[in-house]
Amino acid sequence: MSSPRYTDGVVRVRVPATSANLGPGYDSLGLALDLHDEIEVRLAPSGIAVEVTGEGAGEVPRNQDHLVVRTMRHTFDQLGGQPAGLVVRCRNQIPHARGLGSSAAAIVGGVLAARALANDNAAVLDDAAVLRLASGMEGHPDNVAPCLLGGFTIAWIEQDGAHAVRLSPLPRVAPVVFVPEQRGITAQARKLLPDRVPHSDAATNVARAALLVHALTSDPSLLLVATEDRLHQDYRTPGMEHSIALVHHLRAAGVPAVLSGAGPSVLALAGPGEDLTGMAAPGFVARSLPVCPDGATVSVC
Ligand code: HSE
Repeated sequence: MSSPRYTDGVVRVRVPATSANLGPGYDSLGLALDLHDEIEVRLAPSGIAVEVTGEGAGEVPRNQDHLVVRTMRHTFDQLGGQPAGLVVRCRNQIPHARGLGSSAAAIVGGVLAARALANDNAAVLDDAAVLRLASGMEGHPDNVAPCLLGGFTIAWIEQDGAHAVRLSPLPRVAPVVFVPEQRGITAQARKLLPDRVPHSDAATNVARAALLVHALTSDPSLLLVATEDRLHQDYRTPGMEHSIALVHHLRAAGVPAVLSGAGPSVLALAGPGEDLTGMAAPGFVARSLPVCPDGATVSVC
């Protein structure tokens, strides 16, 4: 493969927050939410300069270890070569380590930014390959898919990697996220899950996940029963007792509520005009975040 020709322009990528699993759809279902990070990149004669404002500023590395930079480097390898230097500016709104897809946003943003800098080399890296590459880096596809495609996505893994389809949830489905001060590490939350689960629990989740597709797209009256999960949420209680307690409290009040991704944020699916903000437990901030119909967008100027 020959080394790519790079654009002299400035590439801007806008990537949405996401909520994965949605209860029973472990590692598969996801929603894009109307909260965005923005990444701006351009070539430099040498070196790496990283500027971060907003979420993560002063915390994330500002060198080649930054997740956007690592992702861009990995993507340039797939595209056939590395540029001499890079300037990367991140304006972040997605809270870090809260189960709202900040790492998927950085990875999707990095892949798309690298592809656009390499003169939008979609012949080498088409959109399906972007999904596979980004999901491979993330380790699971359920945040990457809605981040890339927007709306409500069903993702799955085949031998060649991740695949996804996008559906439109009904506009009257109104997500509210309850974001705690406490952070969570997805890798640790995954380690709490058992290798084996009772067959009856697996069967329950299969039915609920299938029903959830119908509930989100056709009949929200079924959302409470359709968001029931037995595969991951309760196993994750150690370390996020308050989040799991909030999920149970909301559900007992008839609100379809789930852990957002691997937590510790909680996602509730409100109905039109329903104000859930008063149901935030101490230490949580409630935010209404509508479903974002669009996935990541890229512009070059
Ligand atoms: N499906 C992943 C998990 C989502 O639950 O570990 C992480 O955001």
